[in-house]
Amino acid sequence: MLNDAAVVILAAGQGTRMKSRMAKVLHRAGGKPLVRQAIDTALEIAPPERIFVVVGYQADRVRAEVEAAGVGTIHQTEQLGTGHAVLCGEDRLAGLGGRLIVFVGDCPLIRAGTLEELAEMQRGSRAAAAVITTDVDDPTGYGRIIRGAGGDVEEIVEQKAATPAQLAVREINSGIFCFDSAALWKHIHEIRPDNAAREYYLTDMVSILKRAGGRVTAVKVPDSSELLGINDRVQLATADRILRARKVHQLMLDGVTIEKPETVTVDTDVKIGMDTVIGPFTRITGATEIGENCRVGASSIIDASILADNVEVFPFSMISASRLDAGAQVGPFARLRMGAHVGENAHVGNFVELKKTRLGAGSKSMHLAYLGDSTIGEKVNIGAGTITCNYDGKKKYPTVIGDGVFVGSNSTLIAPVEIAEGAYIGAGSVINQKVPARALALGRSRQVNKEGWSKRK
Ligand code: UD1
Ligand code: CA
Repeated sequence: MLNDAAVVILAAGQGTRMKSRMAKVLHRAGGKPLVRQAIDTALEIAPPERIFVVVGYQADRVRAEVEAAGVGTIHQTEQLGTGHAVLCGEDRLAGLGGRLIVFVGDCPLIRAGTLEELAEMQRGSRAAAAVITTDVDDPTGYGRIIRGAGGDVEEIVEQKAATPAQLAVREINSGIFCFDSAALWKHIHEIRPDNAAREYYLTDMVSILKRAGGRVTAVKVPDSSELLGINDRVQLATADRILRARKVHQLMLDGVTIEKPETVTVDTDVKIGMDTVIGPFTRITGATEIGENCRVGASSIIDASILADNVEVFPFSMISASRLDAGAQVGPFARLRMGAHVGENAHVGNFVELKKTRLGAGSKSMHLAYLGDSTIGEKVNIGAGTITCNYDGKKKYPTVIGDGVFVGSNSTLIAPVEIAEGAYIGAGSVINQKVPARALALGRSRQVNKEGWSKRK
């Protein structure tokens, strides 16, 4: 944490190179919108009340993300360039004193530690500003870092304005700066839109501060991938891959076994406990939390769900917005959705779908069933092929099944309906009336055998 720094994140641009109807910073990498990645990194170095995001293009949608993260917004009505974006925050930021870190909303791979190094460099070199740079093989599109004789940064030249000699420079501007606030606010009004794009370039602050007698120094990061700026969807895919590789790497270091990690997709915010084993080709997304000693079978998809300890998900299951209590077993080929809740040591087998259904502790539905809008007690057995008919074409209705009930195979339970505790349902029944506790309900026609019938035919 830096105690004297504020952070401003520039996120007002449209991102034309994305070729999208959605603002660039709302596109996702590592399962999170780019602007959220930036805010989360900023939160590692500064408290929320000192973090501001400049919004403009699709401001309402971007602001919703910003507010959900609990940091401030600054509005840039017209996107006149990165320098203008910072200027729009003058009222809010100039009074904060200390230092201002200018961060961009389209650089999701940067590590908080690198921002701290930047701040240290600015302080240690007593510079008016410090910038993060790196060497790349192909600098096309980036601003080039022009160093002076002493090694300080003299100037940053944008691609469009660069001479052939400057274009050959492979050290590029990350777009991320740490300014001494006093120097920044004293001189920022000197930026002029005197370039081909008619924009106010923040990068012009380098020569402005030099002219005013200040130093500009640089932190050059060895791993250039950290500075990948997202301008198009190819770069978005690269950033996504790197973020996910980092995530599974960290999970493995934290005690999670991941088989074929290069095939596994885990969102940045997912939490997984020790000794859990994650099979190949799984996708674990959203705010999912998985406990200790679980197994997630190959090719399963788990989104926004909570799995307690010792849960086993067999391969090819799909679980979203659901909860599995300790020792629950699900799959293979199971589908749980919209608030499904599988109790302790309950089992859900192949081709079983649970929607908004609570399956009590120790209960089982092992094969081929649809259980929707149902509350099912403990130690219940749901036979193969059971269907809760919860929908009449207009409305949904609940099914309530008490503890210890045995539902015979291929039963059709027409909701709303209740089967009280300890009752038995004969296989193949259609049930549309309440079944009293401990009764046997048969809702099917009696079998008739006609002796010698085929011979007579
Ligand atoms: C910028 C830098 C370039 C650097 C590159 C690194 C400038 C002039 N150029 O170029 O030197 O190599 O980043 O990726 O700064 N934004 C606003 N308001 C605006 C314009 C932009 O908020 O009026 C935001 C964008 O939403 C984006 C960020 O600033 O998050 C960077 O803008 P972008 O247009 O991507 O700049 P680059 O052309 O990549
Ligand atoms: Ca950019």
